[in-house]
Amino acid sequence: MTEPARPSSLDAAFPARRLRRLRRTPALRRLVAEAHLGVDDLVAPLFVREGVDSPVPIPSMPGEVQHTVDSLVAEAKRLVSLGVPGLIVFGVPAHKDAQGSGAWDPDGVVQLALRALRDAVGDELVLMADLCLDEYTEHGHCGILGPSGEVLNDPTLELYQRIALAQATAGADVVAPSGMMDGQVGAIRTALDGSGHHDVALLAYASKYASALYGPFRDAVDVTIAGGGDRRAYQQDPRNGREALAEIELDVAEGADMVMVKPAMTSLDVLAAARGRVDVPLAAYHVSGEYAMVKAAAAAGWLDGEAVALEQLTVLKRAGADFVLTYFAAEVAEALGG
Ligand code: PBG
Repeated sequence: MTEPARPSSLDAAFPARRLRRLRRTPALRRLVAEAHLGVDDLVAPLFVREGVDSPVPIPSMPGEVQHTVDSLVAEAKRLVSLGVPGLIVFGVPAHKDAQGSGAWDPDGVVQLALRALRDAVGDELVLMADLCLDEYTEHGHCGILGPSGEVLNDPTLELYQRIALAQATAGADVVAPSGMMDGQVGAIRTALDGSGHHDVALLAYASKYASALYGPFRDAVDVTIAGGGDRRAYQQDPRNGREALAEIELDVAEGADMVMVKPAMTSLDVLAAARGRVDVPLAAYHVSGEYAMVKAAAAAGWLDGEAVALEQLTVLKRAGADFVLTYFAAEVAEALGG
């Protein structure tokens, strides 16, 4: 019997499967890449403000603006030309009240925007509407308040149903309830089906944490929560992961066509676990604070903002997202050559 060839000292020090073999050239790396970020994966969140003549920059979200209806339509056309398949619109009303009536007013700013968008882009873009009350209530909460300032669940659901009908009538392809009331998906599906809007799809903000990363967004929609309050009594506790999965499954059971996880980079565990549990399309929302952090560090010259954006959004695909809502949508579409 001859002895097997003795490994050289170098071979002995490394495992047999040399991982660097497949990292050697760009073509090899492309061939074995597990996750791909493409223009088709992007949804652009956009803000439209009532009563302004020209777009208003949002200081904490460099490059983002509160649009007029006209500038919103122009941006939507640009997204079409870049190949981005969808947008989600948020409204900033001129007047807020206790109930948030601007949210379901047929002539409310989002409804006007949806009609104008549909006229301008037809079916070339998926038009999503964020469905919530906080932008429209003077107290800044996502529902109406009871006598001791608590957010009332079921009375709020009735208002969400009205908003859904207003958005569907104005032409939304997708309504996206973000208020985190219990039973909101089922209530909205019932209202849509009961009024003949069977084709309007529901993207549930299913796992939405009470996060400090929404700070810049609140500047974007002029929301201050009354009395220095927060949303911890209805949004999820960042300490909980199993609860997030339970809420995702409940939303699917209530009729969600698609579910979303938010914020993105701090929910990768939830995203990956959700991918294994539900078969509906799964989205991640790379939120305002995540965008602002990258923009601020890039502006300071501390990192390459575009590279970080591409890396983060690609990792969301790797973790299991089918698509990503991101303020980087147009910028990344350009970088991807869309
Ligand atoms: C509620 C809503 C919020 C965001 C999306 N929908 C704010 C909140 O829950 O306080 C945050 C999005 C972002 O930070 O980019 N209408």
